[in-house]
Amino acid sequence: MNQKSPIEAKILSSNASFTEGEFAVAGMKATELAKEFGTPAFIIDEADFDLRANAFRQALENSFGERAGACYYAAKAFISIEIAKWVERAGLSLDVCTGGELEVALAAKFPPERIEFHGNNKSEAEIARAIEVGVGKIVADSEIELERINQIASAKGITQKVLIRVTPGVEAHTHQYIATAHEDVKFGFSIASGAALRAVKIGLLASNLEVGGVHFHIGSQIMGVEGFDLAIERTSAFLKSVKEEAGQELTEMVIGGGFAIAYVAGDESSDAKEVLAHLFGAVKRSAEKAEISMPRVSIEPGRAIVGLTTATLYRVGTVKKVELDNGSRNYVAVDGGMSDNIRTSLYDAEYSVALANRTSSAPLVASRVVGKHCESGDIIVRDCDLPGDLTPGDLLVTPATGAYGRSMASNYNHLPRPPVIAVRDGRARVILRRETHADLLSLEVSQEGQS
Ligand code: LLP
Repeated sequence: MNQKSPIEAKILSSNASFTEGEFAVAGMKATELAKEFGTPAFIIDEADFDLRANAFRQALENSFGERAGACYYAAKAFISIEIAKWVERAGLSLDVCTGGELEVALAAKFPPERIEFHGNNKSEAEIARAIEVGVGKIVADSEIELERINQIASAKGITQKVLIRVTPGVEAHTHQYIATAHEDVKFGFSIASGAALRAVKIGLLASNLEVGGVHFHIGSQIMGVEGFDLAIERTSAFLKSVKEEAGQELTEMVIGGGFAIAYVAGDESSDAKEVLAHLFGAVKRSAEKAEISMPRVSIEPGRAIVGLTTATLYRVGTVKKVELDNGSRNYVAVDGGMSDNIRTSLYDAEYSVALANRTSSAPLVASRVVGKHCESGDIIVRDCDLPGDLTPGDLLVTPATGAYGRSMASNYNHLPRPPVIAVRDGRARVILRRETHADLLSLEVSQEGQS
């Protein structure tokens, strides 16, 4: 960290910087952005999105060569019509997990054959829509669902390609992973219990399903590759048992997303090239060991593509010094909160934060960045050091909010959700507008004549 940048480059999008204390993205200064678009606002660095999307797609293609499947962008991390267009132009495919995400993709004219439809409880209407529009693959998550997809496909006279979601008994979060024999999770068919083999057999026998292969996803914000290695090994062994017992070699393996990014100083982001080169080795070794053909491998990164592209700009409203037994803490309240970033309170997630509109030579003081919600757990950054002279009107920036920020935003306390502003080459444009009180009131249904 140098004096000019209060936040290390690895936690910022590639065109973001601090110049004389002022945060800027691709030539647009924080003060200009705040003036034009208001706060809070998500600022997304469009060229950085292209860069990261291409990096993962290319790393998959370069590492796996002819055995490279699709690089699916996981829409749940953040999707909008513009984002779906960016995903399309970067040559990626798209993972959606609800009818709502599917509609955004279709509104963006995303090629349906490059869409993979996930979810553990897809409704009949969602499945029917997905089949009608011609999504490439539906990932089946239960026997009931296999039956449901088959019925709907046969009513339409279509053969639908499906993948079977398996649970390899590996759960990975951040730097830890747990490898258990059985799995107490809602997703997928357990390999260990035999449920996965049964599901494949059901799929193979179904009149209107074509089972292309298997899918697993072991977790999110995974640091290290051990969890992937073990899941790949177990899934390859499973493919061998499918070959032996169901008499069919399944050739596709989707190994999910989950690649970690840096949020705070000690973190490291996954390097697409390194990770995929490693994963290629792991799949190759496991396939050889299991005596199966090398499968075609797809990935589903969400956070690793969009997470670092985006920073949230907030305006400081109040600063309150609270005396503690062992010192004091500045509570810096901004104009957003847990409705635009639930990750701190929900997952104890950590974020970096900095003053974004000016330099300050005031000493740093122990601070906590909080929102404006009526809840003491409404914390954006729990422990940080910020200049002691912060004052109402100052801007703060929290980088790395692109994944699961706007996508998990709520209207708690009737706060309208912030806009998403795309910046590229010194120009900024709204890609998702700010919600208004009128938007929220438009949902109200009130009996006439009553007050
Ligand atoms: N594929 C599947 C089947 C998934 O369930 C997920 C994420 C992904 C891909 C993308 O994972 P990523 O590359 O983004 O880690 N709300 C949580 C994260 C939930 C992730 C759910 N599934 C958070 O804010 O940390």
